[in-house]
Amino acid sequence: MSEYTSILVEKIEQVALSRLNRPKAYNALNKELLAELMGALASFDADDSIGAIVITGSDKVFAAGADISEMAGKSAVEMCDLDNISIFDKIMTISKPIVAAVSGFCLGGGSELAMSCDMIVASESAVFGQPEINLGVIPGAGGTQRLTRAVGKALAMEMVLNDRRITAQEALQAGLVNRVYPLDSYFDEALKLAGEISVRAPLALAACKKMVNLAYEKSLKKGLAEERQAFYDLFDSEDQDEGMQAFLEKRKPEWKGK
Ligand code: CAA
Repeated sequence: MSEYTSILVEKIEQVALSRLNRPKAYNALNKELLAELMGALASFDADDSIGAIVITGSDKVFAAGADISEMAGKSAVEMCDLDNISIFDKIMTISKPIVAAVSGFCLGGGSELAMSCDMIVASESAVFGQPEINLGVIPGAGGTQRLTRAVGKALAMEMVLNDRRITAQEALQAGLVNRVYPLDSYFDEALKLAGEISVRAPLALAACKKMVNLAYEKSLKKGLAEERQAFYDLFDSEDQDEGMQAFLEKRKPEWKGK
């Protein structure tokens, strides 16, 4: 697990951790970092010993956005060729739950990366924002779409039109983050949350994640139909047998991910 230069990876029991690690550039998301992150996430997803994933930065900065020095001077075609943004869609294809542990600056693509995760645990000093307007562009990786679905139109408009930055507490109130903790404990709490999830029934976890994300894509009717099918499908799994038998026998289930 040491083939990376812009991220650090580690396994803690059944949780895989990926730490963004370009401190001098405030973890700006350049091609290399995003490719490494995606590579790490794909390898975690393929590893049966891993049940959940945490993405974090440092206490000072989660990520200050897409790397401006990589984008400056590029044409529209060149930006398309760079293709950094497709990685944000690929993150959505990771089947294991991902918790973002966010502290400090979480801006632009950094905030969009956090929103591509399944849950956000923030430190009290986290600041979320979409400052792309200052650069003469718009958020390009979910900052107008995921943010609006998370916090609603009123706040999203202020954030993207006028670089309104919100504190962790405001983000909690707005529904952008799950939990807020003091600086000295947010990371441990994120790890704890991921740890609790990591030992749950793997097939059901993947189906839950897929179905909640589907709620953003489909009409209620279509979403309910897919949910019902996924529910029935799990009745062909060994874990469903085990889960229900264990309940009836008043013992802890042993999940196989089958
Ligand atoms: N890209 C490249 N480098 C960045 C960066 C970014 N997004 N953000 C910070 N850095 C670099 C700075 O250039 C600086 O490097 P040097 O020391 O070599 O000069 C270093 O990180 C520290 O930055 P500052 O000196 O500016 O630190 P600060 O504490 O005064 O301010 C900050 C911190 C408020 C985060 C400020 O750096 C900032 O505003 N950064 C840019 C934020 C931004 O605009 N993000 C959106 C990017 S576009 C985007 O993300 C598009 C998208 O939707 C995908």
